[in-house]
Amino acid sequence: MNAASYTPRPGLREGDRAGSGPAPPAALAVAPGVDHFPGFLDRAAQEALRDEVMAILAEAPPFRPRMPRTGKPFSVCMSNCGALGWVSDEAGYRYQPTHPETGRAWPAMPPVLLAAFAAIAPGAPPPEACLINLYDSGARMGLHQDRDEEELAAPVVSLSLGDTALFRVGGLERNAPTRSFRLASGDAMSLGGAGRLAFHGVDRVIAGSSTLLAHGGRINLTLRRVTRAPR
Ligand code: SIN
Ligand code: FE2
Repeated sequence: MNAASYTPRPGLREGDRAGSGPAPPAALAVAPGVDHFPGFLDRAAQEALRDEVMAILAEAPPFRPRMPRTGKPFSVCMSNCGALGWVSDEAGYRYQPTHPETGRAWPAMPPVLLAAFAAIAPGAPPPEACLINLYDSGARMGLHQDRDEEELAAPVVSLSLGDTALFRVGGLERNAPTRSFRLASGDAMSLGGAGRLAFHGVDRVIAGSSTLLAHGGRINLTLRRVTRAPR
């Protein structure tokens, strides 16, 4: 990413801001509607969020999703927080209010995640689901679209913790050209507008690139609005 691709978010200029709200975060525009926010969370905020995620995982233990139809296991493990959680098994991809193994409701979404979403997507209806993806050093995520949501007007916002990921994003067709960039611990990313349905995935995780997680690996938190917001 070079300096020429830096585009301030609308409203970034100090003089444009009304009131005392926090400054909108700075974004790198990767592609139309695909924004990267390097260093969105500082180290202290990453540590606090990591601890919140560990508490969530104690309540809603990681499960290994399986591909629809074939039942092939994913290389990542997952959990969720929020009113709805994304799950996948032989019956298909879906959102549901309960953990697929424990049957319990997902833990509540921590306020810090709601605040992060609001900072990156001001005015969007609040997220209902936070998917927690857990990557060990061999895990990856094939190119896919996030399209199991009824509400496509809200962006998908993700936060990365731990080891750096090589993230790949393309266009609206699977075979469109792609580009890749690194998502480091504390970075945020959003897919909205023209980029809401962009194909994306994680080619690999760079082992040992962060000291945030005691056992290494990467945690990605994906915040999504699922149901259609009242118009
Ligand atoms: C996903 O698209 O579900 C995960 C993206 C990521 O891990 O950064
Ligand atoms: Fe995704």
